[in-house]
Amino acid sequence: MTPPGPPELHTPRLILRPLALEDHIQVQQIFPHWEIVQHLNNKVPWPFPEDGVLTYYREAALPAIVRGEQWQWTLRLKQQPDQIIGSISLFKNESNNRGFWLASQWQRRGLMTEAVIAVNDFWFDVFGFQVLRTPKAAANITSRRISEKTGMRLIATGTGEYVSGRLPSETWEQTAEESRAWRATNL
Ligand SMILES: CC(C)(COP(=O)(O)OP(=O)(O)OC[C@H]1O[C@@H](n2cnc3c(N)ncnc32)[C@H](O)[C@@H]1OP(=O)(O)O)[C@@H](O)C(=O)NCCC(=O)NCCS
Repeated sequence: MTPPGPPELHTPRLILRPLALEDHIQVQQIFPHWEIVQHLNNKVPWPFPEDGVLTYYREAALPAIVRGEQWQWTLRLKQQPDQIIGSISLFKNESNNRGFWLASQWQRRGLMTEAVIAVNDFWFDVFGFQVLRTPKAAANITSRRISEKTGMRLIATGTGEYVSGRLPSETWEQTAEESRAWRATNL
């Protein structure tokens, strides 16, 4: 099946492959773990159903991709292109434009930072959006760090409903101009 949505993207170490329905089998094995979901929005059901990924892909993600409202990629190491290790998504709305997760054994190697840089370029340069906003739990130090080190600004604080409950939240933002300036000095 030809997946809908944007093209495959490449970073130094990763392949970002557009989401396909059959990915649910691998993702169901690696996504529903507490260390991954605890700081995700409480729209993620917990305990996570056995068919949770299939249901989400079939009823929410793929229809939204077909409608042109979101773009999702699975992440794979170039060295093991058949093995899914995480996911990154872009959402067309006012306040939440990007989401990502990576299975624990591949974390803390700078991989998600590579994926973020690739999809940010896509968001600003291919889609032509002028601003990217990402809410997150303030306690999610790793996600905050990715925003910080890719040149985003903290613009608001509040509270959010997460899988682990109601928590202080932050919204980070970057404009197209800021993204290009960051790229020019950091890459
Ligand atoms: C967020 C997530 C995708 C990060 O993936 P990753 O590939 O490990 O991220 P990177 O290695 O590119 O960058 C992580 C940064 O956070 C830092 N970091 C990680 N854990 C940290 C900790 N406990 N305390 C302080 N800094 C930490 C890393 O050192 C790195 O910063 P550096 O490059 O300046 O050293 C991964 O932790 C994850 O899947 N978390 C669960 C899902 C989630 O919360 N998603 C985001 C929702 S907003």
